[in-house]
Amino acid sequence: MNIVTTPDSVLEMTLAAMSRTPDERLRTVMASLTRHLHAFVQETRLTEEEFEHALDFIVGIGQATGDKKNEVVLAADLLGVSTLVALQNNQDPQGESPAALLGPFWRANAPLCTPGESIARSTTPGVPLDVTGVVRDSAGRPVAGAIVDAWQASPVGLYENQDPAQQDMNLRGRFETDADGRFRFRTVRPAGYPVPVDGPCGVLLQAQQRHPNRPAHIHFMVSKPGHKVLITQVFADDDENLESDPVFGVTRRLIGRFQPQQGNAAATLEHDFVLEPGEMKFPRPPIP
Ligand SMILES: [Fe+2]
Repeated sequence: MNIVTTPDSVLEMTLAAMSRTPDERLRTVMASLTRHLHAFVQETRLTEEEFEHALDFIVGIGQATGDKKNEVVLAADLLGVSTLVALQNNQDPQGESPAALLGPFWRANAPLCTPGESIARSTTPGVPLDVTGVVRDSAGRPVAGAIVDAWQASPVGLYENQDPAQQDMNLRGRFETDADGRFRFRTVRPAGYPVPVDGPCGVLLQAQQRHPNRPAHIHFMVSKPGHKVLITQVFADDDENLESDPVFGVTRRLIGRFQPQQGNAAATLEHDFVLEPGEMKFPRPPIP
C-alpha cells in the first residue's frame, strides 16, 4: 500500500502526488521547493510551535499588504531573495549585475515629462540634484526613445505614497532619451530611509538585531522595445549604510558619483545604463 510509513516517506509520497503536473516548469519548481522545505523542517527539527509561528508570519505579511505597502515584497527583500533573483537573471560579462531589486514602491504610469523637467512636484526642500546619463545597447550604441522611469524617497526619507505632505506622484517621472540616448531631469538629493517596520517584517528585523535603514538611492527602470527592461537603483556614494543595506541591493556598479556643486548647495549625478537585447516585459506594480 502506498501510505505514509516514516517521516522520509512523506517526501516521497508528496513528490509522487505532484509528479503528474502537466506543466513541466511548475512540476520542476514545486518538486525542488518541496524537497528543500522538507529538508529544512528536518534539519532544524522544526517544532509545532515554530511551525504555527511561521504560518502566522505568512498570514501577517499578507494582511499587512495594501495600497500603501507591500509587506510580502519587503519580506522577500529582507531575506535577500529579491536581490538574488535580480542578479541571477541580469548578469553582465563582468559577472556583476547592473540590475537591482524593484522594491515595494514602484508605481506604473508615472507622469511622462519633458527633458530637464523637475520631478519635485510639491514643495520638497532639499539639495537640488541634476541627473544626466546615456542609455546604450549592449554594442555601445546610444538608444534613442528609451523610457527612463525614476522614483525616489524625499529628503525626509518617505515616498509620496507614504507621506500626506507630498503631492501624488511627487519624485516620480518618466523621461524619453533623445537621439543621442541622453536623458536629463532635476530632482532633490534622496535621503536614506528605514524600510517599513510597523508590520511582521519589523518584528523580524528587531529579533535579528538588524537596522532597517537603506542607503540613499534613486530607482530606475529603463525600457525600449527589443530590450529587456532594466530595473535598478543608483546609490549615494557618501551614505554610511552602503555596506549594510537591509535588502542587499548595493553592488559596486550601482554606486553613483554624486558630485557636490556650489559648496554643498547643489549636486549632480551622471549615470549611464546599458540595455540587454530581449523581450520588453514589465513587472507587476507592487502598489497601485
Ligand atoms: Fe527605494
